[in-house]
Amino acid sequence: MPPLEIKKDIYWVGAIDWDIRDFHGYSTYKGSTYNSYLILDEKVTLFDTVKKYLKSDLMHNIRKVIDPAKIDYVVINHVEMDHTGCLPEVLDIIKPEKVFCSTMGKKNLLDHFHREDWPYEVVKSGDSISLGKRSVQFLETRMLHWPDSMFSYIPEEKLLISSDAFGQHWATSERFDDEVNFSELIQHSAKYYANILLLYSPLVQKLLASVKDMGIEIDMIAPDHGLIWRKNVGAILDAYDRWSKHEAKRKAIVVYDTMWHSTEMMAKAIVDGLISEGISTQLIDLKVTHRSDVVTEALDAKALVFGSSTLNNGILPAMADVLTYIKGLKPGNKIGAAFGSYGWSGEAVKIINGYLEQMKVELVDPGLRVKFVPDHDSLKKCVDLGKKIGQVIKERVPE
Ligand code: FEO
Repeated sequence: MPPLEIKKDIYWVGAIDWDIRDFHGYSTYKGSTYNSYLILDEKVTLFDTVKKYLKSDLMHNIRKVIDPAKIDYVVINHVEMDHTGCLPEVLDIIKPEKVFCSTMGKKNLLDHFHREDWPYEVVKSGDSISLGKRSVQFLETRMLHWPDSMFSYIPEEKLLISSDAFGQHWATSERFDDEVNFSELIQHSAKYYANILLLYSPLVQKLLASVKDMGIEIDMIAPDHGLIWRKNVGAILDAYDRWSKHEAKRKAIVVYDTMWHSTEMMAKAIVDGLISEGISTQLIDLKVTHRSDVVTEALDAKALVFGSSTLNNGILPAMADVLTYIKGLKPGNKIGAAFGSYGWSGEAVKIINGYLEQMKVELVDPGLRVKFVPDHDSLKKCVDLGKKIGQVIKERVPE
């Protein structure tokens, strides 16, 4: 993918990772991009780099715009390796005058690359540097999503280079939000938020408030992954506001794994109960669904309902995987319940309830266990559980 001028003398020079399908446990069915940006000014400045194996793509793109040796400054908004993997080799070529990063950025760069000789220039929130006609204001965004993370804002261009925030894992030949299908773009953005930023939602709320208080004007958001926002800046800011407030719809997800289809029969009966109450419901079979898609569906659901057979006095491995993953991301403002079939010991419901309590999900029922194969009466109890959950959703979520 060749470089693209996104504003006068400002270029996207990143790399497209068409093939990646797993991003440390997040399924990237449509690949990803690592975005770097190059500003041509009196001080030529490169913002962020790319993964180690895509260094050549980055360097080819830079060379199509300018001799890399003419780059004066490199800004590292975030130290994670998808943006710095090739940094040692790139800095050896560029030999910049300064490498700007946050305090934690310098610490984390040293812990990753052990290079004391780089020309670090530590900046903090509110600091500003001049590039000539333009300036860069820095805004630290600690724990969004690493301690070193920061934004770079170019006021003369109303351009926010936002590091991981507002990104998507989506490889495309298009570079702007208005060149792709908006519904698909928001779906990728929601998946990205759910899997990368959900845990830090209280900090996202604070960040959105401080950006508002600062009164900065933004007409373009250039994230480090995916499409650049220029037409729908307000829409993605509103979406981040909703997601970080844990706003829920009249929606439930019923997530299950099953040994001999008994827990599956229970799941389907619970779904019937939810649907009969008019609740939008997703039935999710963990044998065919990736954990990162489960948490995406959980993002705007009010109710999380999990079911597993009991196996070896525990829960099925796929359920343990998903519950561990979701617990770490701390979805807020949820109700929930557990269910499952068992043969003799029957610990699954208790174990799932334990996870839900740790997640601070409000249990609306002690949980439903069925021995071996459910009969008509047992399935009626499952339908009733679905109805009960649906009624609580309607009480809590306005139409
Ligand atoms: Fe895209 Fe946190 O790295």
